[in-house]
Amino acid sequence: MEGGRKLFGSVRMPGAKNSVLPIMAAAVLCTGTVTITDAPVLSDVRACIRILNRIGCTVMLCGTNIRITPPEHPGSSIPPELMRSMRSSLFFLAPLLARTGQAEIGMPGGCRLGARPIDMHLEGLARMGAEITEKQEGGWMLKAPHGLKGAHITLRFPSVGATETLLMAACTAYGTTVLHGAAREPEVTDLAQFLQSAGAQISGVGTSELCIEGTEFLFGTQFAVCPDRITAATVMFAVAGCGGEVLLTNIRHADLHCCAQLLERAGCSIAPLGKSAAVIASSGRLRAPGSWQTGVYPAFPTDAAPLAAAALLRAQGESAVLDSIFENRFACAEGFCRMGAQASVCSRTLRLRGVPELCGAHVTAPDLRGGAALVLAALQAQGTSVITGTEHIDRGYENIAVLFSQLGGAVTAAEKQREGFEMAQ
Ligand code: EPU
Repeated sequence: MEGGRKLFGSVRMPGAKNSVLPIMAAAVLCTGTVTITDAPVLSDVRACIRILNRIGCTVMLCGTNIRITPPEHPGSSIPPELMRSMRSSLFFLAPLLARTGQAEIGMPGGCRLGARPIDMHLEGLARMGAEITEKQEGGWMLKAPHGLKGAHITLRFPSVGATETLLMAACTAYGTTVLHGAAREPEVTDLAQFLQSAGAQISGVGTSELCIEGTEFLFGTQFAVCPDRITAATVMFAVAGCGGEVLLTNIRHADLHCCAQLLERAGCSIAPLGKSAAVIASSGRLRAPGSWQTGVYPAFPTDAAPLAAAALLRAQGESAVLDSIFENRFACAEGFCRMGAQASVCSRTLRLRGVPELCGAHVTAPDLRGGAALVLAALQAQGTSVITGTEHIDRGYENIAVLFSQLGGAVTAAEKQREGFEMAQ
């Protein structure tokens, strides 16, 4: 990457990764064909297709449409290497258990953001009658041969993944399930709306109390995935840091409220255009917005924290961001420092003191959003940067090099590495 250019142009946001992945897994609950439209084409989506194929589903990927036809008798186990391919492999747990009466899974993979236990998923399923055995070689065997039963479950923390697991489990369980303390992230709402479109009886969608009346089966449906708010935040923070003016389309203003507020505090202008577009403009010289912290929706999203930090590396003054969700959100700080930034991490807080310029460097993406944050830093840096470990970034962005090249950034994906990765798929 050659940094130092302002970004101009317009860009349409793809469908959300964290929405399409649970919806693809939930398709296993349906007796007919599910068509998902506006799906992003990411390496995690391909990993999800491999799991669907493995359990016997027929999957067709055509542009941004995915058609999934589950078999009458899906398989009930996912091999460890497929489980490890991403965090979202865990989303198959509830659909397999509900549909086949058992599920055999290993520990899921995904970004190393600190400990990511799955106790709330398992405890909730146990409350619904699942018998759970931890396997000696790692992983779990869950059984519910006579079906899952509705239950009242209170989550000790509004976990996105646990809410989604229990929501999927409850749709075809016997009786009523009430989930207290559920997550309210837009992607959870999207999953609930997908399930409703397939015949699920869910009330309280978008609130922290979900009530689900189990039905005998779900049927095939067509559903458009909601826009990716984190990709939108990535573009907004890139423009903020580099300077320029970009029109974003296919966005939802409410989903981006906290990011927009922080950017306005830092000196950017954000002009909404109708319901689903906005223009962001920045001089590229920001003022540090002080301290803020991430939290569950509708607070500032954890996934956007490294991206916001990247935009503020050259801001005037000091910033500090505390991530309240994950223990190790800011592994990208090391890469920031290699580019000449003044950044330090203490516990869950990243502190920044703005520097006048960043310089190009050779850095490694530590995880998905940390990797994207390094791309944002390199777009602002004088000279050449090389970013390795881009397979992390490919899990969440269709093609980050193309995304920023079309806005005037000088980003080239090294073909050899890309080919190697494609082959590994
Ligand atoms: N947690 C537990 N026990 C559980 C589940 C979660 O202790 O059983 C803890 C986690 O360790 C963490 C916190 O609860 O400290 C939040 O975890 P949550 O379950 O809400 O997150 P997730 O479902 O694992 C999803 C997104 C993440 C996003 C978080 C928070 C997907 C596939 N992943 O993860 O997205 O950061 O919610 O909003 O939906 C990303 O896209 O890069 C990404 C990491």
